[in-house]
Amino acid sequence: MNPLKHMAIIMDGNGRWGLQHKNSRNLGHKEGLKTVEMVMKYCIKKKIKFLTLYAFSTENWKRPLKERNYLFNLLEIYLKEKLEKINNEKIRIKILGEKNFSKNLNNLLDFAEKKTKKNTKLQINLALNYGSKKEIVYAFNKLKKKKRINENDIKNNLFTKNMPDPEILIRTGNTQRLSNFLLWQAAYTEIFFEKKLWPDFKNIDLNRIIKKFSSIKRNFGKI
Ligand code: IPE
Ligand code: IPE
Ligand code: MG
Repeated sequence: MNPLKHMAIIMDGNGRWGLQHKNSRNLGHKEGLKTVEMVMKYCIKKKIKFLTLYAFSTENWKRPLKERNYLFNLLEIYLKEKLEKINNEKIRIKILGEKNFSKNLNNLLDFAEKKTKKNTKLQINLALNYGSKKEIVYAFNKLKKKKRINENDIKNNLFTKNMPDPEILIRTGNTQRLSNFLLWQAAYTEIFFEKKLWPDFKNIDLNRIIKKFSSIKRNFGKI
């Protein structure tokens, strides 16, 4: 069986890419979609079953309304255009995070989840309005009535319930931090910080990372 079941990515650097190329952060977000498509194809080819993409954090609400709206609009257009194809390719879409966007986008996200629910080729988790701390607090609140909470209780009440923890976490954009992403799930994840900005991230970079991953001795505390 493929030892790599779950890859998680902090897709960072779009804004800088856009500024460098056409002096527009939003252009970078649009360009970043091409990398998303490349990674999706890559996962299918390599039989990686779960791909988690950090698309919008609970902290990203602090960005200007114009940029937020651009991002949500991009997502809406993308889904409307590609959902049929995604479904035909047997990809499942799941949203990690609370859907509190416009009514239109909320409905579209619900629809995408429902429509692709039975697909098993690849599951794409879109972390949208996602924050790891919020996710953990949410889990605790669901467990309020329990006297004693154990690790499994928490695990089973996160947005990622029923999924393996990611073996690999990649952050592009030359910044070495987790920015509130999968803090619980990444306890034993191999983390790769990449210098390249997300729109510049390519197939060969993934190949290099996976090659490196397969040479790592994962101890999990043992020797
Ligand atoms: C990541 O790229 C995408 C989102 C947070 C939506 P950024 O927009 O953070 O790009 P930089 O880090 O400003 O270059
Ligand atoms: C993390 O990137 C969030 C996403 C990629 C969606 P940010 O650009 O928001 O992270 P910080 O603010 O630099 O830590
Ligand atoms: Mg950033």
